[in-house]
Amino acid sequence: MNSRLLLTAALLLTAAAVVAAPAYEGRRKCGSCHRSELESWEKTVHATAMDSLAPGARVEARKKAKLDPDKDYRQDIDCVGCHSTGFGKEGGYDPKDPGKYLLGVGCESCHGPGSEYRLLHRKAGQAFEKKKQATPRQQLADAGQEFHFEERCAACHLNYKGSTWAGAKKPYTPFTPALDRKYSYEFGKAVRNDKAMHEHFRLEKVFTGPPLPSFHQEFQERARPPARGEEE
Ligand code: HEC
Ligand code: HEC
Ligand code: HEC
Ligand code: HEC
Repeated sequence: MNSRLLLTAALLLTAAAVVAAPAYEGRRKCGSCHRSELESWEKTVHATAMDSLAPGARVEARKKAKLDPDKDYRQDIDCVGCHSTGFGKEGGYDPKDPGKYLLGVGCESCHGPGSEYRLLHRKAGQAFEKKKQATPRQQLADAGQEFHFEERCAACHLNYKGSTWAGAKKPYTPFTPALDRKYSYEFGKAVRNDKAMHEHFRLEKVFTGPPLPSFHQEFQERARPPARGEEE
């Protein structure tokens, strides 16, 4: 082989070895198949989190935190990271081009960037329908789906100076337990707040095996049957 061919071969090998990093895409992609979770989530404060940055919103809370009640913080990079989906990440929220499906704390803020794993959901759903064949959940984790949650929540809820969370770094949340005890946050309690996450709906067990969060079974035991989405 001449040197040019060798170089081409080497480049091709490198390209094949690079696995596409998962990107944020916005909740519309998820909601088309998970209509029940979408509709429930739309009623949460996570869904409307961006509204809290608008002028005139949450006046008393802002005054207490020494924030300007009349200022528009919706483009402020010290704020939007925790009030939108995937800020600063591939495909995530960009204040200069605010796609409406990335406004607020959306599906992918908790479940992880969906460009890769959502394709597996579709494929697994079809395999299950046709042959009752379940797919290992590990494939989803490998494609970037989150099953531990705790760190993701902490990055927004426990991100302040003096926090018990080791990962804390600027920009911090202005609303801390030191400001008011009502801003105390405890993962085990918070994650069971269906009014803040979304209600839980019964899974058909299309996916099987680890990783699963400790509360999965508990949530499934009290889950309701979902309204079926169009499945695209
Ligand atoms: C083409 C349809 C489709 C799309 C798009 C889709 N999903 Fe799914 N998803 C499914 C199916 C089917 C299942 C299996 C449901 C079951 O077991 O009853 C599933 C399962 C899940 C589960 C449960 C996994 C488990 O532990 O068993 C979560 C969480 C989830 N999807 C979140 C999302 C999110 C977030 C998005 C957007 C990034 C998304 N899905 C996009 C079809 C889809
Ligand atoms: C991207 C940042 C972000 C992530 C990730 C996030 N949250 Fe939130 N959360 C917020 C914001 C911002 C609010 C307040 C929204 C508002 O009032 O405008 C909030 C509100 C809440 C509330 C309601 C608080 C109250 O006083 O009633 C609970 C409970 C909560 N989150 C729990 C969680 C849990 C549990 C997770 C992880 C599974 C999580 N959050 C993930 C940013 C986030
Ligand atoms: C590190 C993440 C983070 C950053 C940065 C952040 N917030 Fe938030 N914000 C939160 C969380 C988490 C909550 C929910 C607190 C709770 O209810 O326990 C929240 C709640 C709020 C609320 C509602 C408070 C209430 O009691 O009604 C307002 C208003 C708000 N944020 C404005 C801002 C503004 C303005 C900025 C920028 C100066 C900002 N936030 C930056 C995470 C953040
Ligand atoms: C604030 C965090 C948070 C947000 C935002 C969020 N989820 Fe979830 N979701 C969870 C948690 C926690 C579970 C429980 C996981 C388990 O039981 O294994 C869950 C479970 C699910 C499941 C499994 C079935 C069920 O209902 O429990 C699906 C499907 C799902 N979410 C889809 C979505 C979709 C679609 C969106 C956006 C419209 C969304 N989620 C937004 C935290 C979140």
